[in-house]
Amino acid sequence: MASSDQPRAQWLGRWGFMLAATGSAVGLGNIWKFPYMTGEYGGGTFVLVYLLCILLVGVPVMMAEIAFGRRGRGSPVDAFRRVVTESGRSPMWSVLGWMSMLCGFLILSFYVVVAGWSLSYLWKSLSGGLSAESIGALADVFDANNADPLNLGFWSTLVTLVTMLVVGKGVQKGIERSVSWMMPGLVLMLVLLIGFGAFSGGFGDAFAFLFSFSAGSLSSEGLLAALGHAFFTLSLAAGAILTYGSYLPRNASIGRTTLAVALADTVVALMAGLAIFPVIFANGMDPAGGPGLVFMSLPIAFQAMPLGTLFEILFFLMLSMAALTSSISMVEATVSWLCDSKGFTRRWASLATGLVLWLLSTAAMLSFNLGADWTLAGKTFFDWLDYLTSRWLMPLGGLGTVLIAGFLLKKSVMRDELGLGPRLYTLWLLMARYVSPLGILVIFADQLALFTV
Ligand code: PFF
Ligand code: NA
Repeated sequence: MASSDQPRAQWLGRWGFMLAATGSAVGLGNIWKFPYMTGEYGGGTFVLVYLLCILLVGVPVMMAEIAFGRRGRGSPVDAFRRVVTESGRSPMWSVLGWMSMLCGFLILSFYVVVAGWSLSYLWKSLSGGLSAESIGALADVFDANNADPLNLGFWSTLVTLVTMLVVGKGVQKGIERSVSWMMPGLVLMLVLLIGFGAFSGGFGDAFAFLFSFSAGSLSSEGLLAALGHAFFTLSLAAGAILTYGSYLPRNASIGRTTLAVALADTVVALMAGLAIFPVIFANGMDPAGGPGLVFMSLPIAFQAMPLGTLFEILFFLMLSMAALTSSISMVEATVSWLCDSKGFTRRWASLATGLVLWLLSTAAMLSFNLGADWTLAGKTFFDWLDYLTSRWLMPLGGLGTVLIAGFLLKKSVMRDELGLGPRLYTLWLLMARYVSPLGILVIFADQLALFTV
């Protein structure tokens, strides 16, 4: 196989991995999901628990995942197999690589549908399609956008196409080049939006909502959601971060880089809250707007304000770019596997991956129109993709990853890879062996209890 004779690609610039991994982490999870979850679960206390989940559960998993990628120098399947066999363990553990690749693909299948919403709303805000006066009218706009499969399919197909074009161009010329302007652009837009929010008159309320903790006000459902979201928002156990890690040069410190990516992801989520909630509060709207928060409440609020349309365009542009830098990370795992192990050229690998993705995402898209009644246990195909990945595959993959890294590998492997001092390494080991797995088991304990009801 010609392609495996070539040395594996590496990030070109010093910031290549940081930008790409932050691009993967920062996405719809931060700007669409985090704000509405915070709204639903009551604000500050949810935020605090979420921050703890990131630090105690997410960060140890992320360090292990990047280390597996760099040590194994390959797609998730190959990297897992190489790393465990190097320590004399069974190659069977590469099943985790398969699982994470599958998980990334399933997430992607519904992710591009939501990314399609963002793109279509960017178009609507440019063409005046969001100038409705009431939340009811905007709910109608949202429903109409979903009701026509050709319309919705057009937007999710567009997202798929752009994603495949970027990935098809390769690690340096496609992924690294695109994130190196999209990520700074995204941060700039977010800062502008916060500035707009600061002048809206709702900033104080938003700040208090996000950062005042009232003990005991978090439901167990909220705790579970925070835990599951920690995986999703950091792009864990979905092959993406591992594959990006496989392009990481030897001299980078995985420990420090992980902390930087997790911090950046968290800061962007909080910034998104500080951009969205002031506008919501200034217009007396409900922060618990659910998944429709940014697609219904926010446009209404923007429309009521001077220069609102301009900032609305900026918002949906930012959301679309954030989604794109995440979706490319999810396909890269599969594309790199096809190139490494199956001898595909990058172009054919992208085309094949794109085709399968297109079929699955089209099926997910149909959950909002033709296939709204195709349900199993009350869930549509779209719902199933979300539920299976965030409640089962991601936690399971994360659990496997930290347990292998913490117990099965030779001691020297993770110590060499992480590049932490002896104290911090011991801290990581403690978290990987006990704290992180315990947190994950909470998710499963709850799932199983649900099944026995
Ligand atoms: N971290 C992304 C977000 O917060 O939107 C979502 C994501 C990207 C999940 C890549 C999984 C993944 F592999
Ligand atoms: Na995120």
